[in-house]
Amino acid sequence: MGRILSGVQPTGNLHIGNYLGAIRNWVKLQEVHETLFCIVDLHALTTLPNPAEMRQYTREVAAAYIASGIDPERSAIFTQSTILAHAELSWIFSCLTPLGWLNRMIQFKEKAGKHREQANLGLYAYPVLQAADILLYKATHVPVGEDQKQHLELARDIAGAFNRQYDVDYFKLPEPLIFPTAARVMSLRDGTSKMSKSDASDYSRIHFLDDPDTIALKIRKAKTDPDPIAGIPEAMENRPEALNLLGIYGAFADLSLVDACRKFEGATFSSLKQSLTDQIISVMDPIRLRMVELLKDPQYIDAILKRGIEKAKGLALKHIGEVHDIVGFLRL
Ligand code: TRP
Repeated sequence: MGRILSGVQPTGNLHIGNYLGAIRNWVKLQEVHETLFCIVDLHALTTLPNPAEMRQYTREVAAAYIASGIDPERSAIFTQSTILAHAELSWIFSCLTPLGWLNRMIQFKEKAGKHREQANLGLYAYPVLQAADILLYKATHVPVGEDQKQHLELARDIAGAFNRQYDVDYFKLPEPLIFPTAARVMSLRDGTSKMSKSDASDYSRIHFLDDPDTIALKIRKAKTDPDPIAGIPEAMENRPEALNLLGIYGAFADLSLVDACRKFEGATFSSLKQSLTDQIISVMDPIRLRMVELLKDPQYIDAILKRGIEKAKGLALKHIGEVHDIVGFLRL
């Protein structure tokens, strides 16, 4: 049994890529591990959402966790900002992190784009805060998507730097847990780019809160090509949209990509799309309905968060106290 930590930013537009790539896998982990699932609002602040949206999306992520099967009895569901030690440990780590390490971070380069001088310090320091999230709880395993591997690698480097600097063996190196889900979930408008919360087009993704008609419409409008479905993935190497729709079907139906291709061999896109729509609705609609129920009662959500905060705080305060001793802060 290990200790698992992961998190999602409360930035809205939570979509089926977040479900298939992250949240769905967390549900199984709670049966055998100690699990902590954070809503990383400090990270979300790097994009300066307005305060009302921050509050709304924070509760939406909590509702999505619960509706997807994260059990508040087993797992701690909590907000990052309420446990001050995240920010504190992040500062301590920032004093141990060479700028050269941060300059290599791909996500910063992507998010800052051409206007690097205008990007805020928070965006630059983002992976240091992420390292603090993980190491504050001494998590042994971190379920992350492919795109977060570099950040986890940095967390391991920071743990090593801390241990070396203070000549201790305090932080163990956390391991990534990468799930072999059928392919990455790509945009419905462009099969070569990832399904993303920040894509300008709503039609590029299916949200947790999309109703069945909206799901059907988005799938109907999803990009395709003129040919029928081939029986094996290798025959569709240059058909990213076809592979994406089959991959999503497989992920929802618990079929490998190979089996999904076999099932739809020779089919038209319109029949694949019909089956895909039904399949997505059968999994996501019960989740949406539960989320809608939960969101009608924000006090209930907040009570669950408070419980999660209490659970997480025990570990956080113990560890941050030990870190204070190690670095030589007086305990007064
Ligand atoms: N950076 C992660 C993402 O965008 C979110 C995150 C913040 C996280 N802290 C974390 C994930 C700690 C895992 C562990 O997906």
